[in-house]
Amino acid sequence: MIALGCDHGGYGLMQEVKKHLEERGIEYKDYGCYSEEPVDYPVYAKKAAHAVADGECELGILICGTGIGISIAANKVKGIRAALCHDCFSAAATKEHNNANMLAMGARVIGPGLALKIVDTFLDTPFSNDERHVRRVDMIEKTFDM
Ligand code: RB5
Repeated sequence: MIALGCDHGGYGLMQEVKKHLEERGIEYKDYGCYSEEPVDYPVYAKKAAHAVADGECELGILICGTGIGISIAANKVKGIRAALCHDCFSAAATKEHNNANMLAMGARVIGPGLALKIVDTFLDTPFSNDERHVRRVDMIEKTFDM
């Protein structure tokens, strides 16, 4: 189950992401927003991030205008490792190395073609489980007690 969260800036691209997930048969929960009416991205970052942190969803996808605000907000939730990615290399690396559990993107930065490839890369790349990466991810969780 994938948690989805966006603001008005990300709403349009999120509709494309939802369609794509449906085509792939991947289930999601949509934590809003639900239109292009201006809203505050921290509200939706928090809802989707808690769904991931609480184990209701395994992974999450966040979209705002830049992807920056919504990723900053999501990363305030303990246990969340939200990665802002606008290329496939980063999307693969952040799963392999950081075991990122949320992908953030900016709808004003990239188009839907690239965004959907980034989504696929993020969802399809597993964590490496290499000892050094496990250690570093553990350090993030233990060192920064939020
Ligand atoms: C909304 O206008 C915009 O600020 C928001 O979508 C995002 O880019 C913030 O980081």
